[in-house]
Amino acid sequence: MNPKGPSIELIDVDKSYREGERTHAVLRGASAVVRAGERVAILGPSGSGKSTLLNLVSGIDLPDSGTIRVGGRDLATLSERDRTLFRRSHVGFVFQFFNLLPTLTVLENLLLPLELTGSERGRERALALLASVGLEDRAAAFPDRLSGGEQQRVAIARALIHGPDLLLADEPTGNLDQDTGERVVELLEALVRDAGATLMVVTHSRELAGRMDRILTVDHGKLVEV
Ligand SMILES: Nc1ncnc2c1ncn2[C@@H]1O[C@H](COP(=O)(O)OP(=O)(O)OP(=O)(O)O)[C@@H](O)[C@H]1O
Ligand SMILES: [Mg+2]
Repeated sequence: MNPKGPSIELIDVDKSYREGERTHAVLRGASAVVRAGERVAILGPSGSGKSTLLNLVSGIDLPDSGTIRVGGRDLATLSERDRTLFRRSHVGFVFQFFNLLPTLTVLENLLLPLELTGSERGRERALALLASVGLEDRAAAFPDRLSGGEQQRVAIARALIHGPDLLLADEPTGNLDQDTGERVVELLEALVRDAGATLMVVTHSRELAGRMDRILTVDHGKLVEV
């Protein structure tokens, strides 16, 4: 099958954060190429810059210097609006801390990324995705009524609702027990395979990392092939 997902190129990427007087350099000359449709695990210790990296690849944030091309597009040359549109049409993001909107129900959270939120097809797809993560009976619940693992599964379903061809997942099984984690990984793998999508997944699980095509480690601000 032809991969539909975009390639990702990082060339000499620097990213630091200002903290008062100090600047904290997180990525320093990070470079890597991910081919279209490839599945890559990102490893690295806490605080090494894994979430920072996903934010940059999604265009949520921009590097201080260096280049990031996704599907050949240099994200820094896009306007903020075009980066939002790019994310909306291509990127599924499973946030480390879920980022579910507390005032919306589970179903409404899932429908939010869709353009025609009221459409019957959207509803059907949302309910099918909820069923595939084992939460078909929680559609009307509010996120704060769910356990951490349940919120994580809602976040995964939401990331997949618009059929992204680039999936960025930040520790998607971090809050799940072995069996639920296994089911969720199989779901992600199946959807990525069917869509020919590119996958970058941050994980501390060697097991999950071992199922990917490649492993990159964030090491002192650089990306190192394992
Ligand atoms: N918005 C921010 N402002 C200031 N510092 C930040 C910001 N975001 C991240 N950092 C710092 O940058 C470093 C990298 O953070 P990041 O969240 O990318 O790490 P991580 O590898 O995802 O860690 P973890 O495994 O704990 O999730 C950390 O030291 C963090 O404190
Ligand atoms: Mg993180």
